[in-house]
Amino acid sequence: MDSVHVPVLVDEIIEFFKHIHGVFFDCTVGLGGHAEAILTRIDSSVVVGLDIDDEALDFAKKRLERFIEEGRVKLLKSSYVDATRVLKDLGISQVDAILMDLGVSSMQLEKAERGFSFNRDGPLDMRMNKQQTLTAYDVVNFWDEEALRKIIFEYGEEKRYARRIARFIVRNRPIETTKQLVEVLAKAIPDKYARKRHFATRVFQAIRIAVNNELENLKKFLVQVPTMLKPGGRIAVISFHSLEDRIVKEFFRTCFELKQLTKKPITPREAEIKLNPRARSAKLRVAERV
Ligand SMILES: C[S@@+](CC[C@H](N)C(=O)[O-])C[C@H]1O[C@@H](n2cnc3c(N)ncnc32)[C@H](O)[C@@H]1O
Repeated sequence: MDSVHVPVLVDEIIEFFKHIHGVFFDCTVGLGGHAEAILTRIDSSVVVGLDIDDEALDFAKKRLERFIEEGRVKLLKSSYVDATRVLKDLGISQVDAILMDLGVSSMQLEKAERGFSFNRDGPLDMRMNKQQTLTAYDVVNFWDEEALRKIIFEYGEEKRYARRIARFIVRNRPIETTKQLVEVLAKAIPDKYARKRHFATRVFQAIRIAVNNELENLKKFLVQVPTMLKPGGRIAVISFHSLEDRIVKEFFRTCFELKQLTKKPITPREAEIKLNPRARSAKLRVAERV
């Protein structure tokens, strides 16, 4: 197995889940890394895995083949927004554990044609679900300047240059590819500021969040958690930027049916980051259904 497909914070998650036996609901099954760890390391566990990306599901199906044959895994193409309905259709009233690993999978990032990476030249796509119609191309080429400024400011947390970047994008249309977008951003963002972090990071994040409606989807999912989870059951969420982490933190803090097990988020150890740089910004929060 290629090291890029190694799941993030896996030992820490198993530590929180190891005493649980029953149904694990992996709502972002992706390449199946966490699911494989749960099935291998936790006796009598079964996994229901969801994803909206067909390529990820195909990969996970192969990776988890032996467990599928044993009848311990069910993989379904569905958004986690529809989690309650999915469980109902399967005849499952409540689950024992829930896992969410938000963000982009390494496979999505690596494939230039998916358009997620500013390091690879590809079409402006960024859809996690290829059946969806809205693409990054539409956002970049058809949204008005104010709408672009707003997402770059809010979703990209680019406080200083959001207006200038939006203006440069609008002036340089049409923008067809990720490389062309990076070139426009390079012109919009002053060199001194750009050197601190890759200058395209925040803008790509903003567009991706907008295309996939990520923050709204997360909120719509979280409100379903108390009814989906058995008393004593646990939910673990890994987020990769502060906007997601804030939503999870706030929900765990204010939901009276959940008890936080991580007052501060758990972050990967140095050794893990060395092995898997994608883990660098990961934050894990865990809560228990009371
Ligand atoms: C970081 S990856 C998960 C990696 C996985 N934990 C593993 O070990 O391989 C996140 C996954 O969430 C999926 N995803 C994004 N939005 C989703 C949604 N609304 N419903 C279901 N899956 C979603 C993405 O397609 C992606 O495969």
